[in-house]
Amino acid sequence: MANQKGGTAKSTTACNLSTTLASAGHRVLCADLYPQANLSMSFGIERPEELAFSMHDILTFMIEKGDGSPLPDKIEYIVSGDKLDIIPCNINLAVTEINLRNELGGERVLSELLEPLCADYEYIVLDTSPSIGMLTINALAACDSVIIPVSPQLWSATGLTDLVQTIFKVKRKINPRIEIEGILMTMCDERTRLFRDTKALLDEFCRDRIRIFDARIPSTVRVGEANYSSASIIDFDAKSKAATAYIEFAKEVTGHADSDKTTATA
Ligand SMILES: Nc1ncnc2c1ncn2[C@@H]1O[C@H](COP(=O)(O)OP(=O)(O)O)[C@@H](O)[C@H]1O
Ligand SMILES: [Mg+2]
Repeated sequence: MANQKGGTAKSTTACNLSTTLASAGHRVLCADLYPQANLSMSFGIERPEELAFSMHDILTFMIEKGDGSPLPDKIEYIVSGDKLDIIPCNINLAVTEINLRNELGGERVLSELLEPLCADYEYIVLDTSPSIGMLTINALAACDSVIIPVSPQLWSATGLTDLVQTIFKVKRKINPRIEIEGILMTMCDERTRLFRDTKALLDEFCRDRIRIFDARIPSTVRVGEANYSSASIIDFDAKSKAATAYIEFAKEVTGHADSDKTTATA
């Protein structure tokens, strides 16, 4: 999930996509790369500052020990939940951000951590900060594809242009695999003019270059209530419109959207 604007539902989407994928039987790992630890908290880690070992510690270990030393046991830095696993973080990760800047090859440290874990998981979902700093660059360097949550209230063509340019720069210089998976419209109130105007601008911006997911996440207080209860909307209120929308979105991500229709048509 990437968008350098805050409040576009990156963390909410990371939580709900991961939970939906895990509920569908996929092996999922989440990695929290935002020092404020919203994603960690949404998985029930109430006091991230008390974590004995976190994303900060494992990345610091990798920076300090270099390539040679074996990593600590996975059990040290991966928290296994009921449905999925997470590498949580806390505010210490802000220090890692600075240390990564001074490290030769600092944009690839996360890739080195995640590469061996790819064999254990079908999906690794990364939540990023509302900035394009070294932690976000590490996420872009490590990922296969980027989902960009966009909220009509916070629409900014300039912001999106900057992000897309950064992604293409990362593709040229660090990670040739990276693709833009698509733009997810979040916090939508489809009756409003704001929504229609933003949708038109977004269509114009994306044209045939960038996919906009058919699923749109409605704006609803239930999402805030779910976040407040440290739960995904899927677990909090499976019948809510937002939960249904996130399930449809997850199907698009896995390529199974409308698979019934496809079969029927075939
Ligand atoms: N579909 C939605 N409807 C209403 N509120 C939402 C929705 N999605 C997210 N929010 C709220 O918007 C705020 C920002 O969401 P968050 O996922 O933290 O954004 P980001 O990670 O991009 O900063 C949170 O308070 C969250 O509860
Ligand atoms: Mg966030």
